Amino acid sequence: MGYEPCTHASPTTVSNIPLLYVAGAALSSKHWIAMLVVLLLAAAVGVCVPIALRVQSEASLEERLEIATRVLREVPLVDGHNDLPWNIRKFLHNRLRDFRFSDDLRQVSPWSQSAWSHTDLPRLRAGRVGAQFWAAYVPCEAQFRDAVQLTLEQIDVIRRLTDKYKPSLTLCTSVADIKTTHADGHVCSLIGVEGGHSLASSLPVLRTLYSVGVRYLTLTSTCNTPWADCSLVDNPGAKAQHHGLTAFGKNVVKEMNRLGMLVDLSHVSVRTMKDALAVSTAPVIFSHSSARALCNSSRNVPDHVLKLVALNRGLVMVNFYSQFLTCRDVSTVEDAAAHINHIRKVAGVESVGLGAGYDGINFTPQGLEDVSSYPALFAHLIGTGLWDVEDLKKLAGLNFLRVMEEAERVRDAMLNEGIPPYEDDAPRQQINNCTSPHLF
Ligand SMILES: *[C@@H]1O[C@H](CO)[C@@H](O)[C@H](O)[C@H]1NC(C)=O
Ligand SMILES: *[C@@H]1O[C@H](CO)[C@@H](O)[C@H](O)[C@H]1NC(C)=O
Repeated sequence: MGYEPCTHASPTTVSNIPLLYVAGAALSSKHWIAMLVVLLLAAAVGVCVPIALRVQSEASLEERLEIATRVLREVPLVDGHNDLPWNIRKFLHNRLRDFRFSDDLRQVSPWSQSAWSHTDLPRLRAGRVGAQFWAAYVPCEAQFRDAVQLTLEQIDVIRRLTDKYKPSLTLCTSVADIKTTHADGHVCSLIGVEGGHSLASSLPVLRTLYSVGVRYLTLTSTCNTPWADCSLVDNPGAKAQHHGLTAFGKNVVKEMNRLGMLVDLSHVSVRTMKDALAVSTAPVIFSHSSARALCNSSRNVPDHVLKLVALNRGLVMVNFYSQFLTCRDVSTVEDAAAHINHIRKVAGVESVGLGAGYDGINFTPQGLEDVSSYPALFAHLIGTGLWDVEDLKKLAGLNFLRVMEEAERVRDAMLNEGIPPYEDDAPRQQINNCTSPHLF
């Protein structure tokens, strides 16, 4: 119940009084009394939402940080993309025995010398992160080679890291898992596969990825697959290969809907975005993209697509890479807020979230240097006066939870309708020149 929007007073404006939980519970006489007490208390201290909000925007940084912290205690902050697993491969060859994630990695070589390192357990806690999608990313060079194997190895390292730091890190694969883990005060590990090349055009591989915990697939990374164009085809002088999704690519999306795996459109071409939005019966996400109207990068989402995302009830999780915020190497917390506000203005407050891209970017905004920065971002947004507590909760995680919940509902409905797994795989010889001969 803690995740329902509170239409009366918000518990974040009345310290330590769990009004939301009381109001949401079955109203026994005991609860009525508790609620009355709460309302009287609220009246006594003059708390009502509009006044509280006016005060908040003028509050000191310390007070705004306190409100931010309370928001993130009440709802899990879900970040859509973090590239730590690839750095663990690069720096440690996936050997976790010497990896001390509970240390301050700013003091530990080689992390301390890397501009690409922004994540450790203490900073995740300081950032009040409730759920982190870890990218199981493998480079496009692996396409048509060993992409499937490398992807499984990256999923393995995410799962082993999570096991090693259990329960501080807990593997989550459902909305229920995220809520429970957040209530227990731990950080969810969620797994996303970044790039359709990891499938080797095989729906059996897609299904197997789901079964080992993968909950989103980014349809492409920085290369076209045999069934989808990536964002590079939108760059000047580049040419489309498939003009969006092929027939098989559309079946990938449908199979993801059937499984309950989220369709991630960061990195894809505009035509692929539109094809996927037309085919998907579940809301889609952009796990780490910003607004093209503010920085004309093909990795960002154009306004006309933002409007389609709103109709799809999907979500754009804003990337903090300076090159996507300002199209330059420098940016500030104000720039990140500008993208958040723009996406909110065009797509609505239900369709904006956070997917900073830490550990996969080397230029971060001043004031948002690493995973500990989310409360500072929220304090900044409170200071603008444009965000009330309910909006902040949506941005933090309620929007993501709604999207994942809807994807779970689509999955359950397709199961009830008896829709079988799709079996029309792309012919092997078409996609890979090193498959076993004559096996099928
Ligand atoms: C954005 O960049 C693309 C090419 O990369 C160009 O075709 C387009 O005109 C640019 N849009 C704006 C508004 O500058
Ligand atoms: C695949 O292998 C065959 C036989 O060795 C070769 O003739 C062909 O050029 C290869 N195709 C590709 C795309 O590498």
